[in-house]
Amino acid sequence: MSENFMVVDFCSSKIVLFLAELGPELKIKNWTPIPVDQDTIRSGQIYNLENVASKIRKGIEETTGKSRYEPADVYIGFSDPEVEFLSSIGMAACGTPDNPSEITEKHLDQAITSSRAVKLEEGRVIVQTIPVRFDVDSKTDIKNPKGMLGVRLEVKSALITAKKSSLLNFKRALEKAGIYAERFAYQPVAEIFELPSEEEKENGILIIDIGRDLTNYGVITENKLQLAETLPVGGIHINKDLKHYFNITIDKAEEIKKKYGQLTFSETEDSEYIDLNMGSMKTNKIKRDLLVKYISERLSEIFEFIKERLIQNDLKDKITFIKITGGTSQIEGIEKLAEKIFNITAEVYTPSREIEKLTGNYDIPVLNSLCSSLAILLFAHRNLTSGVSYSADLSVMKNVKGIFKKMFGK
Ligand SMILES: Nc1ncnc2c1ncn2[C@@H]1O[C@H](COP(=O)(O)OP(=O)(O)O)[C@@H](O)[C@H]1O
Ligand SMILES: [Mg+2]
Repeated sequence: MSENFMVVDFCSSKIVLFLAELGPELKIKNWTPIPVDQDTIRSGQIYNLENVASKIRKGIEETTGKSRYEPADVYIGFSDPEVEFLSSIGMAACGTPDNPSEITEKHLDQAITSSRAVKLEEGRVIVQTIPVRFDVDSKTDIKNPKGMLGVRLEVKSALITAKKSSLLNFKRALEKAGIYAERFAYQPVAEIFELPSEEEKENGILIIDIGRDLTNYGVITENKLQLAETLPVGGIHINKDLKHYFNITIDKAEEIKKKYGQLTFSETEDSEYIDLNMGSMKTNKIKRDLLVKYISERLSEIFEFIKERLIQNDLKDKITFIKITGGTSQIEGIEKLAEKIFNITAEVYTPSREIEKLTGNYDIPVLNSLCSSLAILLFAHRNLTSGVSYSADLSVMKNVKGIFKKMFGK
């Protein structure tokens, strides 16, 4: 019998649980989305641990049908604007110029471990180490250096660092719910690896996932991870803007955003005003062009910020395609706004291809708001099936063994 594994993805508006079977195919056994409010989880951080733990405990019962359940492996998906993405070089000496030796898994581990030897701010830990490119002596950009003869192996790694305290809170919430977890996966990393096709990753792609409180984004060009970050702005900020400008409640703002939110306004097709049906109490009508303006300003701010980050990292001209996803990507015309700002072709991405990859009886709706959780699920499966242990430095554990295997399946 195959072992089960579990994914607990902490989004801003919900926690998503997946129970799946660990085999060559990714078989879903069950799944449960758990809605959470802003007093419970905000901007990627737990604000009410007891509440999170009890919701997860109930979620686990619902997902597994058991009150006590211990899956073999648990992955925690998370996203946090305080995560930092660093590039670092590591190396391993393999032989002498007169006597170059064969590069083994041990050398790869050594090089990757040395790339992790960076000085971090107090309280910060490396959550994920992703080898991005290898060089052996004068040969650069080698996909798989194992077995080659060389003197000096160099690796460029992407390091994802996060605040230890926020990771420990996720871990604690799960422990209180009865499950032990030590594997973390940062949502933008999982999304940029799992959502695009191989061709898109080669040609250069930017993925933007706009959720409730946060926006995740990641870049891969020439099949190499270039950037993965989180911005503390999301759909809730549109609601706050609409509340402020139209003098309406947050709930009404959410409602009209979903119902009428759009980024193109046609004077000939659309009526000038939207009737809010609120009686005579408060604002009863809002101007449609103003709604477009306010939504557009907030989304432009997000896109402009990301564009600036691309320019700073010399990536802007290396991207040929943008995929926009997350709940907020459902605002009509969002891809047109992105195209205008980035001057790159953009599309709204719905995860039907990811869902097709899953087998099992549990129908998962094709929703943009599930993209990060599906990406974490696929990422976890890929990691586990290639036999990798993927731990954050929460204790003394520094486990990089097998990372190479995970990356290339070799
Ligand atoms: N049809 C819609 N139009 C505009 N915004 C939407 C729509 N549906 C959901 N949203 C927004 O999407 C956000 C939630 O996105 P989601 O990806 O589920 O969040 P998270 O991943 O942060 O939990 C909310 O701000 C919600 O208002
Ligand atoms: Mg989301």
